[in-house]
Amino acid sequence: MDRARRKLPAIMQKENVNILALESSCDETAAAVIQNGRTILSNVIDSQIALHQPYGGVVPEIASRQHVLSMERVIAAALQEAGLGFDGLDAVSVAYGPGLVGALLVSVSAAKAIAFAHDLPLIGVHHIEGHISANYLAHPDLSAPFVCLVASGGHSHLVKVTKGGILTLGATRDDAVGEAFDKVARALGLGYPGGPLIDKIAKEGNPDAFHFPRVMMEEDNDDFSFSGLKTAVINFLHNLSQKGEQPDVADLAASFQKAAVEVLVAKTIRAAKREGIGIVALAGGVASNSLLRETLQHAALANGLRAVYPPPVLCTDNAAMGGCAAYPHLMRGELMDMTLNAVPDLQLDERLGNG
Ligand code: KG4
Ligand code: ZN
Repeated sequence: MDRARRKLPAIMQKENVNILALESSCDETAAAVIQNGRTILSNVIDSQIALHQPYGGVVPEIASRQHVLSMERVIAAALQEAGLGFDGLDAVSVAYGPGLVGALLVSVSAAKAIAFAHDLPLIGVHHIEGHISANYLAHPDLSAPFVCLVASGGHSHLVKVTKGGILTLGATRDDAVGEAFDKVARALGLGYPGGPLIDKIAKEGNPDAFHFPRVMMEEDNDDFSFSGLKTAVINFLHNLSQKGEQPDVADLAASFQKAAVEVLVAKTIRAAKREGIGIVALAGGVASNSLLRETLQHAALANGLRAVYPPPVLCTDNAAMGGCAAYPHLMRGELMDMTLNAVPDLQLDERLGNG
């Protein structure tokens, strides 16, 4: 790795710096080439959704095995789409946690192999740091500070992104919001993955048909709790079935979604105002939810704030976001070596931002 480190001064002088980014933390095998941290030259995502669908959720062992089968092809496709060979790359990055350990190991091993074989600097990024950075890809003019709601299948965090790093303001005390979407969707018989299915069917329902609890909305902190909301919907369904009645799935989906979104948006806006920050952002799979995007946009306008979010393809898992997050690490010489390992519970501490 010394040879890779010695290349750093030359890389820092280059007009165009190309990073190959890899991602396999859950059920997407992904590779992307990102130029100068902000331009997507390629973004290849191989989704395993169809493979896990029969089981109603991600089966970790199946995910790891499929990543092994797909990774080489996905990398080749990303290079081809970018019109580059390995010799056109300046660095390789990988999201090394958090996630499923067997799944993470596939892209960590691939990134190490490529870095070793081509003497390329190796950068490790935090998966959530990647999700947040997707906002820079979507809005090249964006710069810190901003408050970001990170809402995915495994995380619900409210963070403050500053030029110096990412500070966690609050987090869920139980279920992640995406997890609640997925579990409610399963209870409603909609299938997997639940988020997009609830989003779709809710458009046909009445969001005020049922009132579900807005848990912790009024509490003066930045934490969330979604297990009570999930349980309220499931209990409601049980009561109906005991009475032999059929649920109105669209109304229930719409009412659940509204309860979740109202809390997410209220807490995000309140945190931004308290911190004196003028920009609110969304990140993670749930950030592609149409009601969440719309509601945040309206609330931001009403409060004199700017709302930003990535296009849906950059909200759900992808490698482009990791390439964006990796760029400032590369420029600061924050490299990993061949001892880099997958860290399934990697904490989002004081990782540095891109803005
Ligand atoms: O960020 P992501 O792709 O993977 C994790 O890092 O977890 O997020 C996946 C989560 C799943 O829970 C999925 O149901 C949810 O994001 N999701 C959505 C939507 N699209 C994906 N939730 C609500 N509405 C959507 N449109
Ligand atoms: Zn994710």
